[in-house]
Amino acid sequence: MSSILNKLQQKLAEREAQGNLRHLKTTTGLVDFCSNDYLGLARSEKLRALIKEEEEKYRYLPMGATGSRLLSGNHLLFEELEATIAAYHKAEAALLFNSGYTANVGLLSALPQRGDTVFYDEASHASMKDGLRLSFAKTYAFRHNDVADLRQKLKHATGQVYVLVESVYSMDGDQAPLKELSELCREQDAALIVDEAHTVGLYGAKGEGLTVELGLEEQVFARVLTYGKALGGHGAAVVGSQVLRDYLINYSRAFIYTTGLPTHALLALKCAYTLLPELTPAREKVKALAKQLYLKLNKLSGICCTPADSVILSVFLEEAAQLKPLANTLQQQGFDVRPVMSPTVPPGKERLRLIVHAFNTEEQITGLEKAIAKGT
Ligand SMILES: Cc1ncc(COP(=O)(O)O)c(C=O)c1O
Repeated sequence: MSSILNKLQQKLAEREAQGNLRHLKTTTGLVDFCSNDYLGLARSEKLRALIKEEEEKYRYLPMGATGSRLLSGNHLLFEELEATIAAYHKAEAALLFNSGYTANVGLLSALPQRGDTVFYDEASHASMKDGLRLSFAKTYAFRHNDVADLRQKLKHATGQVYVLVESVYSMDGDQAPLKELSELCREQDAALIVDEAHTVGLYGAKGEGLTVELGLEEQVFARVLTYGKALGGHGAAVVGSQVLRDYLINYSRAFIYTTGLPTHALLALKCAYTLLPELTPAREKVKALAKQLYLKLNKLSGICCTPADSVILSVFLEEAAQLKPLANTLQQQGFDVRPVMSPTVPPGKERLRLIVHAFNTEEQITGLEKAIAKGT
């Protein structure tokens, strides 16, 4: 026993020596420039009240799913919600998963078969990479957002070909060139899979995501929608064809061998979807505030802030070693801002990751910019 613990301690000491040891922290009362609650739904009193009302209506359901959905765990609310999700996102069918992580693992471990080939953007989320590690297909990373590199690498393709991207990248905040990618996939008969974790709620006239905003829903084979971010809840859905849904119910181990979502989580999603169409002013506000912050920060010397059109901003300093002290100073001044260090991002790409929300104010944007200017 003690030798295992020693080995674990040694791994922790390695992280500590690199300055990258992760800690869990609780924070309260700081101005939120860090969470994924883009539209403020996780703290919306209107949503809370709606959920309460719905909970009364659905009292006849058990609180927990009580089993896998293939056994005791399925009920009408799952099926109704999946029909709503599919229609909302202009897809034929939807299947709920317990989180975005699980959806990616459940989709990517089940879909590509031995002999198939998967090409994924090198900046893809860990959950996509972990899903691929469970697949028997051949996998190749292509350079971030580089369609020419993907075209070159497609020469290695055998079997069914899949291309995996995020519509907006979780770390860099930039958009995938979905139009070019979908054209290339059509030309090469490849199935395009898009993780919409950071676009659901924010893009599209009603927050349907970037694929729908660009009118590409027919071109994309599967989309992963996650609900822990702009929808303020928990869980995820894969949307695509009815055949894909039936296939995942039969072959996706992350769907089959787990207890379904609890009733509360389903009702929270049902209610969030009823509020989503009316949140266009919030969608516009968060983008306008993010633009202001981007422009202000790029006027400061020694700082580079990217990208231009995103609510996820990265602030790079000349010295990455200054990121943690700067984040600490900002936190002491009341701003919840976190540094993102290697290995979460590749060495040399360490940054402060700022997330702007519809509930942030212009004063908070100005205050943060002033605090960063002073702290650098
Ligand atoms: C692109 C992307 N996909 C999937 C996930 C996982 O989603 P969840 O938090 O619902 O597990 C995240 C969250 O970090 C993400 O950023």
